[in-house]
Amino acid sequence: MEALQLGTAITVGGPAVALGGITLFFLKTYINDQKRRYASIPLPPEVPGLPVIGNLLQLKEKKPHKTFAKWAETYGPVYSIKTGANTMVVLNSNDVAKEAMVTRYSSISSRKLSNALKILTSDKSIVAMSDYNEYYKTVKRHILTSTLGSNAQKRHHIHRDIMIDSITKQFRTLVEAHPSEAVNFRKVFQSELFGLSLKQAIGKDIGSIYVEELGTVLSRDEIFEILVIDPMEGAIEVDWRDFFPYLKWIPNRSFEKRLQQMYSRREAVMKAIIKAHMKRIASGDEINCYLDYLVSESNTLTEQQMLMLIWEAIIESSDTTAVVTEWAMYELSRNPEKQNRLCQEIQNICGFDKITEDKLCRLPYLSAVFHETLRKHSPVPIVPLRYAHEDAQLGGYHIPAGSEIAINIYGCNMDKKIWDCPEEWNPERFLDGKSDSMDLHKTMAFGGGKRVCAGALQAMVISCMAIGRLVQEFKWKLKDGEKENADTLGLTNTKLHPLLSIIEPRN
Ligand code: HEM
Repeated sequence: MEALQLGTAITVGGPAVALGGITLFFLKTYINDQKRRYASIPLPPEVPGLPVIGNLLQLKEKKPHKTFAKWAETYGPVYSIKTGANTMVVLNSNDVAKEAMVTRYSSISSRKLSNALKILTSDKSIVAMSDYNEYYKTVKRHILTSTLGSNAQKRHHIHRDIMIDSITKQFRTLVEAHPSEAVNFRKVFQSELFGLSLKQAIGKDIGSIYVEELGTVLSRDEIFEILVIDPMEGAIEVDWRDFFPYLKWIPNRSFEKRLQQMYSRREAVMKAIIKAHMKRIASGDEINCYLDYLVSESNTLTEQQMLMLIWEAIIESSDTTAVVTEWAMYELSRNPEKQNRLCQEIQNICGFDKITEDKLCRLPYLSAVFHETLRKHSPVPIVPLRYAHEDAQLGGYHIPAGSEIAINIYGCNMDKKIWDCPEEWNPERFLDGKSDSMDLHKTMAFGGGKRVCAGALQAMVISCMAIGRLVQEFKWKLKDGEKENADTLGLTNTKLHPLLSIIEPRN
């Protein structure tokens, strides 16, 4: 028997060894060929910096997208910088960004997360921050099927209708009570959007909740702070060890404490919310929402993964859509002729009826307002960093394995070679008949390729419906002094101060 096994091993082993040798020979030849090929391709130009810290000091004002776009004017659309010990390749044009996101995706599909994002995403457990792998494919399918895909969005239609009605009603109440006082757009819109994201994620809005681990009852505003505002701020926390990985053994206690506190509070609140809804589900009261879908359809997720996915749906639905809608209302408030043009278009199509979602495809100027706002005020100005896990080629340059890749969406959307007077907010630029009015990807704002934004349809429908109804029902004018107030804040491109507008019912 042993002889038989040995014999089999020899007969099978002989060809296997020969095959292994041939494979090794070809692999070595292939690697040498690749090396020779890349040796003949130039590296991207480098932005000069200082020894050890590289270009870090030049990036200290926390608006890297603007600095990157300025450097592109000198160094071209592809260049490299040094962030401490790391090499980062920055891409600033549509062509090269698309090459990275589509053609070269297989070489740069991993995420490079900062220490802050590693903690806040429980080490890549959410769709948007995970690497391209089986987990990613499964959870992306879940969020599209239950919440963000076009069929799911049709099922969630009712939440959007209720939200838009409630927003216009609140503005009407405010203006009736104090006709000459400015309204705070963000206060009303953000709270309603948070309500919608909760209904889609867990089935119901929340008034308050008792959080056992914190031993206290939290109000809705406090829940919003813990689930949305704090993590957004935490995501841009800088840990100097990100730039000097060889020093990662040195503790950075104040950073760790701040992030850990944020993490634990969010975890405690999410656990309390999920526990309450698990009781609801167990009692047979099922609702069409992400949580109920995950409970019934997915038995492979851990509790922690489920918690992170539900939180992701809440935070992503609550932020960027509010950012772009606020910027659109700011631009319309300061451009009365464009506001009148939009109002006229809506009147021509809807008459005296309220605008409805089925009319959106017949309102090209409204769509142009939305896309022009996405272009000029890209809510996500830089795509979450990617990482080249093997040598690659981009824009005719050699990108060595190990480089971080920053796709500067803001830079692409402000590229003078593509856009006339990119600093101007001019929706008319999208009315040249070159693109379908319902095309979601007129700009690079939603990214592209396999990792294109999964919530683009939801963002477009909510934002266009809100802009349309608010212009149909009120005349918007900036409060005096508001004009220059257009700086930005945080991870997403949020207006520094909330928009204050004087509104007048149109009747
Ligand atoms: C105007 C609003 C929005 C903008 C500008 C925006 C932009 C982006 C960008 C730039 C990406 C990264 C693409 C990449 O890595 O290549 C992304 C990914 C993603 N977004 Fe959005 N987003 C918006 C709204 C939303 C909403 C409302 C949701 C709802 C939950 C959402 C969910 C996601 C998800 C799940 C991903 C990850 C997709 C993947 O990796 O496959 N986004 N978004």
